[in-house]
Amino acid sequence: AVERTLSIIKPDAVAKNVIGQIYARFEAAGLKIVAARMTHLSRLEAENFYAVHRQRPFFNDLVEFMISGPVMIQVLEGENAIAKNRELMGATDPQKADKGTIRADFAESIDANAVHGSDAPETAAVEIACFFPSLNIYSR
Ligand code: CMP
Repeated sequence: AVERTLSIIKPDAVAKNVIGQIYARFEAAGLKIVAARMTHLSRLEAENFYAVHRQRPFFNDLVEFMISGPVMIQVLEGENAIAKNRELMGATDPQKADKGTIRADFAESIDANAVHGSDAPETAAVEIACFFPSLNIYSR
């Protein structure tokens, strides 16, 4: 089915100047960028976005990292967009990510891991709504 997923290019990858290289991978895989916005997240925005991880030991480091610089946020649309984007990203820990994936090629550590992608249709809907009102998604 045609799905939408939320993608974030994290501060490490923005600082490395590889937004275009990552976008090219989305496009080559048939994912269409239907909304996009660069922003520097506030602490509250980062905490709300990652609210499901609030009890995890890595929560504070994750929030600190996500507010350490600007991020590029986009909605990707396409057949099986959620799984396709996760394949392109590779494993959360770049050391474990398959060769040729975004995290293997651009990420340094499990915190500075270059990209985020929604993990399921329900979370994708919540995450997209976090950043894009539906009138700012340009599907056609
Ligand atoms: P992301 O897909 O953005 O979702 C939560 C983030 O927490 C994850 O990528 C990692 O960057 C970060 N993180 C740090 N430590 C861990 C961990 N042990 N397990 C999962 N995610 C972690």
